[in-house]
Amino acid sequence: MLGVRYLQLTLAILKPDLISHPVHLKLVMEKILKENFFIVHWKLVQWSREDAERFYQEHRDKFFFQRLTSYMSSDLIMPMVMARVDAIQHWRKLMGPTKATMAKFSHPDSIRGLFGITDTRNATHGADSVETAKREIEFFFPEFKYDEWLEKNEEKIQNGQIIYNEVSKTHKVFE
Ligand code: CMP
Repeated sequence: MLGVRYLQLTLAILKPDLISHPVHLKLVMEKILKENFFIVHWKLVQWSREDAERFYQEHRDKFFFQRLTSYMSSDLIMPMVMARVDAIQHWRKLMGPTKATMAKFSHPDSIRGLFGITDTRNATHGADSVETAKREIEFFFPEFKYDEWLEKNEEKIQNGQIIYNEVSKTHKVFE
């Protein structure tokens, strides 16, 4: 039995420009693995405008809301559940600042600095807290049980009982 929560889960979204650019997508996936994230689940999704509006409802009064929801429902996106020590903050650090136009100067090696196109088309999204991660994971993967998954898997992962499957592009925990 572990006294301290060791792993954290986060929700990432790879946005349409990244999904439609195979070289950039491959580089981002390599970065994710190099940074010791475990890929628990991912899928490709085409949002309706309403889906995007529901997901981003906290931004409904912002000037960029129409632009954002139109963009996010324009083509395929890739939501991912990823696990790591300090996953939420680490993914946000790797992505760099939200505004990709600034990130290009302030954090040129970050994902948004490298692959972001505009402040809206900023390559990736990441949950900003455990509560948000739970809500956003539930949005895409309603069958996934956040606490149960950690309870069941964190000790096994600490013991090295996890392997990356090149075909499914996910990590599998084994007995
Ligand atoms: P994301 O992390 O998905 O969360 C909200 C999104 O709104 C953000 O990334 C950007 O895509 C978009 N966004 C945030 N700020 C701006 C801005 N100033 N101008 C345009 N789009 C923005």
